[in-house]
Amino acid sequence: MTSSLRRPLLAGNWKMNLTLSQSVDLARTVAEAAGSASGEVALCVPFTAIAAVGAALKGSSVRLGAQDLYWEASGAYTGEVSAPMLVDAGCAMVVVGHSERRKLFGEGDEWVNKKTAAALKAGLTPIVCIGETLDERESQKTWRVLETQIAGGLKGFAPADLSRAVIAYEPVWAIGTGKTASPAQAQEAHLFVRGQLKKLYGEGLAQGMRILYGGSVTADNADSLMAQPDVDGALVGGASLKAESFLRIMRFQRA
Ligand code: 13P
Repeated sequence: MTSSLRRPLLAGNWKMNLTLSQSVDLARTVAEAAGSASGEVALCVPFTAIAAVGAALKGSSVRLGAQDLYWEASGAYTGEVSAPMLVDAGCAMVVVGHSERRKLFGEGDEWVNKKTAAALKAGLTPIVCIGETLDERESQKTWRVLETQIAGGLKGFAPADLSRAVIAYEPVWAIGTGKTASPAQAQEAHLFVRGQLKKLYGEGLAQGMRILYGGSVTADNADSLMAQPDVDGALVGGASLKAESFLRIMRFQRA
């Protein structure tokens, strides 16, 4: 049984998509449906959409999130956005270390660690992404990769500070490919991740921390993924861009 300590979280990661008017329309529809969701709902939107989506979500329980941040609070860092700026703009959450940032922009665990620290310090909930590539899975390196990413990205926190964080297990081979991890593969990885959290931060933190699955989550597979005892939610890319599919995911039913 999934622990009642962990409220499911259904988070949309819009990535670099949608115009402002499309963003507002979708956010309004999500906000209207939030009352019938099976858990907490969040939308992680492009920086340019934060203000407009925040206004559209006003008065609803849907939490606003960004997709990245920089770890310094302010200063001469052209092009960057800080955690206090995200809070000021109405964000409650931020995605950290997404595999697209790791792969396309060279982010490593040290940066993930600094960004996670900055998010926590500002009062944001970081959604820290980890996951192995296809090569790594096929060469039996999945557990080593996850262990390294967790140890590096989450090192040096007080358990009380880290308890707000959320982990997203996103196998890179399942992102945007239509190839979802099977419920059993997801459960196996989530259980491993929880074991690593226990090793680093103790049983209490490990049992309380939400571990989301991400990678081709759809309206059709959300129920079976969410039925796994250690799958505490979903980080949804493509299927979060359409109201119909995201609303169905928000209303998942544990099979
Ligand atoms: P897809 O749902 O499009 O596979 O993307 C997953 C993801 O990267 C969410 O952060």
